[in-house]
Amino acid sequence: SRTIGVAVLGMGNVGAEVVRIIGENADDLKSRVGAPVALRGVAVRDLSRPRKVSQDLLTDDPAALVARDDVDIVVELMGGIDPARELIRTALQNGKSVVTANKALLAEYTGELATAAADAKVDLYFEAAVAGAIPVVRPLMQSLAGDTVDRVAGIVNGTTNFILSEMAQTGADYAATLAEAGRLGYAEADPTADVEGYDAAAKAAILASIAFHTRVTAADVYRQGISSVTADDLVAAKKFDCTVKLLSICERVRGADGSERVSARVYPALIPLSHPLAAVNGAFNAVVVEAENAGRLMFYGQGAGGAPTASAVLGDMVMAARNKVHGGRGPLESTYASLPIASIDDV
Ligand code: HSE
Repeated sequence: SRTIGVAVLGMGNVGAEVVRIIGENADDLKSRVGAPVALRGVAVRDLSRPRKVSQDLLTDDPAALVARDDVDIVVELMGGIDPARELIRTALQNGKSVVTANKALLAEYTGELATAAADAKVDLYFEAAVAGAIPVVRPLMQSLAGDTVDRVAGIVNGTTNFILSEMAQTGADYAATLAEAGRLGYAEADPTADVEGYDAAAKAAILASIAFHTRVTAADVYRQGISSVTADDLVAAKKFDCTVKLLSICERVRGADGSERVSARVYPALIPLSHPLAAVNGAFNAVVVEAENAGRLMFYGQGAGGAPTASAVLGDMVMAARNKVHGGRGPLESTYASLPIASIDDV
């Protein structure tokens, strides 16, 4: 049978783990996909840095790698809008399926990219873009496709959850805890995205879009970060049997005129210690979904870090590869509602 060729763009924490797992699990991947999976190349910015991959697979020309005829699936892990947006669009237009963990990009351009994927009849998967290893994108898009989701709320940024839970448990200050999160590989290269809530807002935009079948971008999300939360705040919270968590909340609300709207917001919230989200500590994430018929569902696990995020990437890669081998596609991105965005005063 044919071999499925994979190109990996970016070899940071997650990319390195994806490359490792593809190498180590070649036999399992082959049996799960129904054809061998071969790494065709890995695009990196700096060719001179030592990497745990054969040197002849490395390139600093991602466009040329994406254009190769023997590449069927592009795994984009470089992050940022440019050049990722153009590379993904080109890949899709040329019939390649794309797996991406790029929250910032999806929070702006899911519509454009999903349309490109639909036009080319290929897959665009992004389980790893929200809450690392935790399956939450696929449940919302597939398992709950026949239900009506009313609310998706939880902790979707590992760095800030690590910081807040360390501060609560040890009384350590914010700066030292942030540095530790960076050393553990949770924080983004520029931790501003984490601590100011941009990362959580991008994830909220993605979750709200797929949960409510509408378009929510990062700019639609009300956002407040944790950089002004102090050790004293956490001590005070504890006195009231509470703790502070950076929550991302996406829900259907009614505006003043009674019309249905989508509210998406990110802010540090005081929650009772008895609440299940209060027990989510360290870099763990948890997402609670409330749907009309399913009721309440809770998803919990490692939301950041190389190997956990790579697990979600590999899952998407196997699905995309199976579809390449056996035909088929999906889950399809469906946008049939166009819900207005609620203002913070509506909630
Ligand atoms: N910096 C992100 C986090 C990584 O801390 O959750 C996963 O998206």
